[in-house]
Amino acid sequence: MERYEVRTLMSAAEIDAGLDGLAERLVPALEGKQVTAVPVLGGAVMFAADLLRRLSPEILLDFMRIQTYGAATSPQKSAQADWLPHEENIRGRTILLLDDILDTGGTAFEARRVLIEELGAAEVLTVVLIDKPVRRAADIQADDRVLLLKEDLFLVGFGLDLAGRFRNLPELRALEPRAEAIKEKAAEEE
Ligand code: IMP
Ligand code: MG
Repeated sequence: MERYEVRTLMSAAEIDAGLDGLAERLVPALEGKQVTAVPVLGGAVMFAADLLRRLSPEILLDFMRIQTYGAATSPQKSAQADWLPHEENIRGRTILLLDDILDTGGTAFEARRVLIEELGAAEVLTVVLIDKPVRRAADIQADDRVLLLKEDLFLVGFGLDLAGRFRNLPELRALEPRAEAIKEKAAEEE
């Protein structure tokens, strides 16, 4: 991470406390419903594992993977599912769609569409570790979150990656390009 200024945004203990609060809100909201949790692979794995162990053992668990094509920062990027949950786990049920971060919204928008239109979900609750509305481009909101992030920061840890790395950090860190790193990069590009 030498090119970045790194700071801890949420410690492991703070994430734990945030998950306790989220689970306390979700337990009554899901009571009496036929629930299937669908984490989006692979960023939601840590979040889902820790949240689901705080919820009812009646919940089914199935998975979805969404690949994003196009530049990561472009609002025109398109999200496409390449691993779907089994239809029998989705049809007519309440889906707890879990992801690491809701950023532009392209991923969650496509996941919701597939779950409802193609697999027959009765309802979809979109629940994320981090809700970052500043870059939102798709018509989608989170139903609940651990952290509402107002700034446009790039995060790693607790499932979030930078080119596949840092997903297994137990805390959330924010990366900010260092002034010198930016100058170095500009010099390289000249
Ligand atoms: P969206 O489709 O733009 O909402 O982005 C969702 C996906 O982009 C997430 O599941 C992450 O995989 C990735 N992503 C967005 N922001 C970040 C970040 O700050 N760090 C790491 N991955 C991110
Ligand atoms: Mg992801």
